[in-house]
Amino acid sequence: MTVPSTLPAPLQAALSDRPRRWLVTGAAGFIGSHLVEALLHAGQTVTGLDNFSTGHRRNLDEVIAGLPDGAAARFTFVEGDIRDPATCARVCAGTDIVLHQAALGSVPRSIADPVTSHDSNVNGFLNMLVAARDAKVSRFVYAASSSTYGDSPSLPKVEDVIGKPLSPYAVTKYVNELYADVFGRCYGLPCVGLRYFNVFGARQDPEGAYAAVIPRWARALLLGDTVQINGDGETSRDFCYVDNAVQANLLAGLTDSADAVNTVYNVAAHRQTSLNQLFAAMRDELVKRFPDIAGAQAQYREFRAGDVRHSLADISRAQTRLGYAPTHDVSRGLAEAMNWYVARFAPARAA
Ligand SMILES: NC(=O)c1ccc[n+]([C@@H]2O[C@H](COP(=O)([O-])OP(=O)(O)OC[C@H]3O[C@@H](n4cnc5c(N)ncnc54)[C@H](O)[C@@H]3O)[C@@H](O)[C@H]2O)c1
Repeated sequence: MTVPSTLPAPLQAALSDRPRRWLVTGAAGFIGSHLVEALLHAGQTVTGLDNFSTGHRRNLDEVIAGLPDGAAARFTFVEGDIRDPATCARVCAGTDIVLHQAALGSVPRSIADPVTSHDSNVNGFLNMLVAARDAKVSRFVYAASSSTYGDSPSLPKVEDVIGKPLSPYAVTKYVNELYADVFGRCYGLPCVGLRYFNVFGARQDPEGAYAAVIPRWARALLLGDTVQINGDGETSRDFCYVDNAVQANLLAGLTDSADAVNTVYNVAAHRQTSLNQLFAAMRDELVKRFPDIAGAQAQYREFRAGDVRHSLADISRAQTRLGYAPTHDVSRGLAEAMNWYVARFAPARAA
């Protein structure tokens, strides 16, 4: 079996050791589709679950098209909803390791419609925990969020110092952590929460009102639209390339260290980038291919409700306990991600 060579050596060894049965929820989404891809390339057996609320079948088609011969036979896709307990039970049966990504992302979406976000992110999450417990899975890894740091001003963010949530979305992600902790204590379900910090990369959706900043700006730059910056552009984030997030998931799924489970980890690159710096970096990356983008300017507008001002992760817990070693900084990640956005929007650009 070929294990991706960008993964740390102990992880490659653990994956080669024996194939396991993984369940990826949110498989048709951005991060979920990368998890499916890495696992199938590494010879694992994968079930993917998604209801296509924000994910797309084309993401899975793209993954399958890039697989070596025969690997697609190790993938089963179930179209279904984590808000349905029977669906959760069905997909968890026979699973060794769960990578739970399904949720409604986006702070503004949750402010506009807190009930729908709660339904998937809290009720659906609880259904998944119950199903994973009943199926006696060996590990339940779940997508937590840096939004849990809320109004805490301290930088860098360390896992044990959090503030009050600033949005319904942040509440849902914090409730996930509380429930996972309790399922560890009450039922012995080994859980690991990964607090992602602004993950980006290929297949992150550039369309719609709730698109994240990098895909939204890539689309605007490539189509000649105005890039809108919320606030003065000095808001900062710790942007994390998706390969780093994939690595953290696989490490969390496979670790056999008792010290590494039943806790949460920051998953980031440990690098603070302001929105102004991000805009310049993206423009510089795209100018290499399209010189006319050099003249692109950004327009500043109001700060957005629910946004935290600064974000930077301390990643030492993940480094120490999981062996997390990010392979991509922001510029290397942007270079790879922009290839995908260029391919996606090049035909429209040429038209
Ligand atoms: N991308 C980031 O920067 C980031 C940061 C922090 C946390 N997260 C979390 O990571 C996870 C993955 O996010 P993403 O960026 O890949 O988003 P995404 O929207 O691309 O993926 C989420 C997937 O979950 C699916 N889904 C949603 N509700 C569902 C339901 N009720 N039943 C079944 N499937 C459902 C969607 O259709 C989608 O395919 C989410 O839990 C998100 O909250 C992401």
